[in-house]
Amino acid sequence: MPMRCDLITLFPEMVLPVLGQSILKRAQEKGLLEVRVRNLRDYTLDRHQVADDAPYGGGAGMVMKAEPILRAVDALRREYHETVPGSSLRLLLPSPQGRSLTQHLAEELGRERRRLVFLCGHYEGIDERVRLALDPEEVSIGDYVLTGGELPALVIIDAATRLIPGVLGDPESARAESFADLLLDFPQYTRPPEVQGLAVPEVLLSGDHETIRLWRRKEALRSTYLKRPDLLRDRLLNEEDRRLLDDIVREGARGTSVKCGEEG
Ligand code: ADE
Repeated sequence: MPMRCDLITLFPEMVLPVLGQSILKRAQEKGLLEVRVRNLRDYTLDRHQVADDAPYGGGAGMVMKAEPILRAVDALRREYHETVPGSSLRLLLPSPQGRSLTQHLAEELGRERRRLVFLCGHYEGIDERVRLALDPEEVSIGDYVLTGGELPALVIIDAATRLIPGVLGDPESARAESFADLLLDFPQYTRPPEVQGLAVPEVLLSGDHETIRLWRRKEALRSTYLKRPDLLRDRLLNEEDRRLLDDIVREGARGTSVKCGEEG
């Protein structure tokens, strides 16, 4: 079952190139992700296809009109109801006022069976009646303000897509990486063995899988301990992790993973 998304936007050209590259492109080719990009102007009724207007009460900037968005959502409901009876939509509104995007939410969206419909606002905002009429789930990608919802929608789709089984080549890679078990990544190296006098840690060339596993675990713990200690605070550590972390604390800054010549 693919993750199915609709993006309603005034700027399809802003999102299409991103969806047509790399892993998002491959996920669509493999049938694991489906994204339909809808041009909001197609849901206007006037000759000039106006989708925004000046704010009531005055002030700078433009506000996105409610009706084209409501009409677009209505059209999607009818379209999908016709093709898949009983199917429903999960409406998402990227907004700095929303619930934070976390790995947990990305996992949840990756598993969602309903269609995810992203309502991408732009300019100074959207007419409040979109919220009142549709009650979309607002999702924020961080405490800063962007020019529109297109980039956040892509960020959300990207974070969710890579967690869909089969999207990443190696079924373990999504799981082993950052945050899935709430540790930061261990450092990675590829050829050549030396770059500007910086060597690859000896252990990675050893071919000894168990030693490499332990080194990676330790470096993931070290990175987390140094950069995001909050992630370790409430964590129940097993015997092995506790031993590795004790070593890291004892080593202090001396053993940091930045110096690749020294290994822990
Ligand atoms: N739209 C504008 N800024 C945003 C943000 N930080 N997150 C989600 N949507 C947004």
